Amino acid sequence: MRRHVVLPLLLLCTASSAVIETIGTSIAVGMAAALTGFLASYQNIFYYFHECCRPEWINFNRTGLEEDLRNKLFGQHLASHIISKAVSGFMNNDNPKKPLVLSLHGWTGTGKNFASALIAENIYKEGMDSQFVHVFTAELHFPHVGQMDTYKTQLQQWIKGNVSSCAHSMFIFDEMDKMHPGLIDSIKPYLDYYEKIDGVSYRKAIFIFLSNAGGESIVETALDFWKAGKSREEIELKDLETPLALSVFNNKRSGLWHTSLIDKNLVDFFVPFLPLEYKHVLQCALAAMQAQGAKPDAGVADKVAQDMLYFPKAERVFSVKGCKTIESKWEYYT
Ligand SMILES: *[C@@H]1O[C@H](CO)[C@@H](O)[C@H](O)[C@H]1NC(C)=O
Ligand SMILES: *[C@@H]1O[C@H](CO)[C@@H](O)[C@H](O)[C@H]1NC(C)=O
Repeated sequence: MRRHVVLPLLLLCTASSAVIETIGTSIAVGMAAALTGFLASYQNIFYYFHECCRPEWINFNRTGLEEDLRNKLFGQHLASHIISKAVSGFMNNDNPKKPLVLSLHGWTGTGKNFASALIAENIYKEGMDSQFVHVFTAELHFPHVGQMDTYKTQLQQWIKGNVSSCAHSMFIFDEMDKMHPGLIDSIKPYLDYYEKIDGVSYRKAIFIFLSNAGGESIVETALDFWKAGKSREEIELKDLETPLALSVFNNKRSGLWHTSLIDKNLVDFFVPFLPLEYKHVLQCALAAMQAQGAKPDAGVADKVAQDMLYFPKAERVFSVKGCKTIESKWEYYT
């Protein structure tokens, strides 16, 4: 029963009004006008309630992204800047020559997942819940090395299937360092400059890779700045690029770098996430309270932030886990 209802609904997602008019006129001349009118308004109502690959549901909000990055992503001036420029440039380009590929690097809890969610929320009305946003985690989706060939085929089919039904699809690969190199190799063609592969264009898709690779060198640079008495906002991309690239290239454990993703310049932007300080953890705690409908309490936030582990041990500069677990933690301190 349900199938009969769903099938025409899904068709409506892609049907143009021309198609609907054709259906209308081909049925019965007398009824055509009424039917066409009905179908057309039905279609509009349908778009309204059911997520479709259409501008009603996929519409980049540049101001929204900029504001979110400024107000919600704490302590990441470089990442905010790069993401904002990269995503805006890509989304405002009607004819991109390749899909957008971002590689987000940094220690755990520094906001890589969160930043990806902010991007999704400002492109898709449904944000991370959108059917056009796909998250893959090595341990969850591709756990067994022995099944790598199956995974490769599956992943390629998923990407192809999803991009075929919606060009503006987004793929987030979490824990990229734990991905099997072969698996990453298998998605390489989709990241490249090809106009089409088997009739499908991937140029409007967005790929986001998240990894801890290079995190240590980012931390070292941040620590150097701190020791020199410079503010973290003075850190520029060029201060991080070389150490990041070196550690990423030389890190044998990080799957991404075995492959020619970098050699071939398939990654458009490397986005470094700096380690977070006490004041950022404080901001995270206040934001968590607000997000969960509680009154932000500076005293509680201070207790939460004080209880996190910091390094180096003596100076307690950077939070070991960034803002991770803050969301579930603050309630214990109230
Ligand atoms: C874009 O984001 C801004 C800031 O969050 C918001 O005020 C505005 O309504 C959004 N625009 C659209 C079209 O959703
Ligand atoms: C889209 O990707 C999801 C995984 O996120 C997969 O389950 C689904 O089958 C894919 N859709 C198509 C049409 O391939």
